[in-house]
Amino acid sequence: MSQGNRVYIFDTTLRDGEQSPGCSMTVGEKLRMAYKLTELGVDTLEAGFPIASDGDFEAVEAVSREFRWVQVAALGRANKLDIERAAKSLQHAQRPRIHTFIATSDIHLKYKFKKSRQQVLEEAASAVQLARQYVDDVEFSAEDATRTDWDYLEEVCHAVVEAGARTVNLPDTVGYSVPYEYGQLINRMVKALGDKAVLSVHCHDDLGLAVANSLAAVEAGARQIECTINGIGERAGNCSLEEVVMAMKIRNDKLPYQTGIVTEHIYECSRLLSSIITFGPQPNKAIVGDNAFAHEAGIHQDGYLKDKSTYEIFDPKLVGVPESKLVLGKHSGRHALKKRCEDLGFELTAEEVNMVYHKFTELADRKKGLTNDEIANLIRTTVERVAPVTAG
Ligand code: KIV
Ligand code: ZN
Repeated sequence: MSQGNRVYIFDTTLRDGEQSPGCSMTVGEKLRMAYKLTELGVDTLEAGFPIASDGDFEAVEAVSREFRWVQVAALGRANKLDIERAAKSLQHAQRPRIHTFIATSDIHLKYKFKKSRQQVLEEAASAVQLARQYVDDVEFSAEDATRTDWDYLEEVCHAVVEAGARTVNLPDTVGYSVPYEYGQLINRMVKALGDKAVLSVHCHDDLGLAVANSLAAVEAGARQIECTINGIGERAGNCSLEEVVMAMKIRNDKLPYQTGIVTEHIYECSRLLSSIITFGPQPNKAIVGDNAFAHEAGIHQDGYLKDKSTYEIFDPKLVGVPESKLVLGKHSGRHALKKRCEDLGFELTAEEVNMVYHKFTELADRKKGLTNDEIANLIRTTVERVAPVTAG
């Protein structure tokens, strides 16, 4: 399979994301999210884990009926029941993918399964063979791949590809790997499999390295990234879709890869997810956080007002954020205050701006973030001659 520099985005917001605390979604909510994700241009929508609940089964079924042009994936462990259930949930899909997995690390074999490596290898291959009886497109994941013995992992990769897997995913299930090491692992398996399968990565963020690990994997030859909106997912979450995609877009000079993501839809997608689940991203979250394009420090505001490129590496509109914000707080400077006065309809002389600025710093020292009403009030009480040009 010649893959070039196109990187496939496998969205698992509705599966790995949904299975984390506070993130469960009804079928209707999954459909709303799926609609936005298709607008966003993801290549694959993993819509659920059908054996886990009737709701998940219905969600996969509904998403496959509704979004027939998109590839829809259903997850199942490497056993007959799970795979049959996944296959059934996908019966109306035009482009179905069964995603089957089994853990391969000795830690999981010893404590979770009490099975030998040989047993797990055989179960992995049989699961893929069974899944191939239902669909052409089968993905296999070696859960906890990054803590698996590399020679054994390579044997498993060969066995599942031989059994018919088209995509082999090597998850960093517990977010343990570091970029250089993960890159080496992926590089070894890419070389081992050649063009027989697409190598996929699925990174958790326990050490805050999910995006860095995913990018290292792409540089090493992986061509599918599994990720979620706002980085939601088990424990510390998954690789954040918006971060990994924007890193490749903005630093295309160093990361010359393409995705099918229409980045202008990112913010809307993030907002919709936050309105459906019980929380949104933290304010300082890259790309979609409330402060991602907000400037409070005077030096930054002054630079930004002279030329945006001084403190912004891309236009927020590129990800659908309507505009940057100049926040007026205790660190702000005259330049931003003057701009806000103008925006509020007040035309002040330099001296008047100074007077207002003086009062403003006193107030800002006591209060976090000042509203437009408070600024307008400050101007009126400080500069008597000034009448607002428009209603402040
Ligand atoms: O984290 C993980 O290993 C998974 C697999 C099921 C792909 O979510
Ligand atoms: Zn996961």
